[in-house]
Amino acid sequence: MQDNTPLIDPFGRNIEYLRLSVTDRCDLRCSYCLPKGFKDFSEPAEWLSFAEITRVVAAFAQLGVRRVRITGGEPLVRKDIPTLVAQLAALPGVDDLSLSTNATRLAKQAAELKQAGISRINVSLDTLQPERFKAITGGQLDKVIHGLMTAKAAGLSPIKINMVVMKGVNDDEVEAMVNFCLEHGFTLRFIETMPMGDTGREASKQYISLQDVRARLESHYELVPGVMPGGGPARYVRVAGTELRIGFITPISQHFCETCNRVRLSAEGTLHMCLGQDDSYSLRDRLRAGISDSELLAHLRHAVSLKPERHEFKEYPGQMVRFMSSTGG
Ligand code: 5AD
Ligand code: SF4
Repeated sequence: MQDNTPLIDPFGRNIEYLRLSVTDRCDLRCSYCLPKGFKDFSEPAEWLSFAEITRVVAAFAQLGVRRVRITGGEPLVRKDIPTLVAQLAALPGVDDLSLSTNATRLAKQAAELKQAGISRINVSLDTLQPERFKAITGGQLDKVIHGLMTAKAAGLSPIKINMVVMKGVNDDEVEAMVNFCLEHGFTLRFIETMPMGDTGREASKQYISLQDVRARLESHYELVPGVMPGGGPARYVRVAGTELRIGFITPISQHFCETCNRVRLSAEGTLHMCLGQDDSYSLRDRLRAGISDSELLAHLRHAVSLKPERHEFKEYPGQMVRFMSSTGG
C-alpha cells in the first residue's frame, strides 16, 4: 500500500519541516547553551551514519516533509557534511536544504556546501565586539566574521543572523547589529532566551522581552510588516526604505506553538517532537534491528501522533533538562 498521506499531528498541524542534528558537539560554549568546559558529549559511534540519516529523511520526505535544516551542536564539527548534503539534496521531495551554524568553520566549507545543495544558512552571532564574543561563547569573533563573508561571497542567500538578546549582556548592540546587517545584506533575527537546561535557566535571568526591543527600534526606524519565505516562527518586519528584514522569535513573550510545523531528529537518532518538552522517540535501535521501510513510516507517524500541544517554558521553567546543543535549536 502506498503510504504518502501528509503527517498531521493530533492538533491539526501539518509536519513538513525536519531539523536534523548531525552532532551534539560544539566548538563554542555559548553561556545560554552549554556550561563552560562542558565535555559530556555523545560518542560518534552513537550517531546515525549518513546512510541511516538519509534513509530517515527519505521516509519523512515520502510523508510530505519538504524542508530540512541541518543543525548541531555545531554541524560543521562533524566530518564530510557536504557529502551528507549531496545525499539529502538528491532525495525526491526535499526541496529546501538549509544549515544552522556558528560559522567558526564556515570559511573552509561555504563554497562546497553551496555546491552540494545548501541554499541558505542561519548564523548565530550575538555580538560584534571581540571581547564580548569571547565572554559569551569562549571563541574568536574574527573566525565567525570571516566565515560569514566567505559564505556571502559563495552566494549563499539569504544569510540570517540569529542574535539571542540578553539584558545587560548585549542588548546595547541591537542597533549596531541592525547596521551590520544593513551593510552586508543579511537578514536579522532576534531571539528570546529560553530556559533550556541549567545554562538556559541561568541565562533566562537576563531575559528581555522582544516586545521591548521592538518598541526601542521603532523609535529609530520605521518598521513595516513584512514577510519572509521559510515558514518559521519569526514575525518579520522590514526597515522602511531598505531591504533589511528583521525577525522576532518570541518563544516566551508570545509563543507560536499553534503553527509549529516541525520535529527534530537528534544525532543519536531520537525524535523530539517539541523543543520545550522531554518527549522523545528513538529510531536508532529500530533502524539497526532491520525494520522495513513501511515499518519506518509507521514509526514516524506514531512519533508525530505524540507531539505535545505546546511548550511550557513559562509555567514550568524547571522542566527542560536537555541542552539546546543536543536538540539543535
Ligand atoms: N535560548 C534561546 N536560544 C538558544 N539557542 C541555544 N540556546 C538557547 C537558549 N537557551 C539558540 C541560539 C543559537 C542557536 C544555535 O540556538 O539562537 O543561535
Ligand atoms: Fe554551540 Fe550553538 Fe550552543 Fe553556541 S548555541 S554553544 S554555537 S550549539
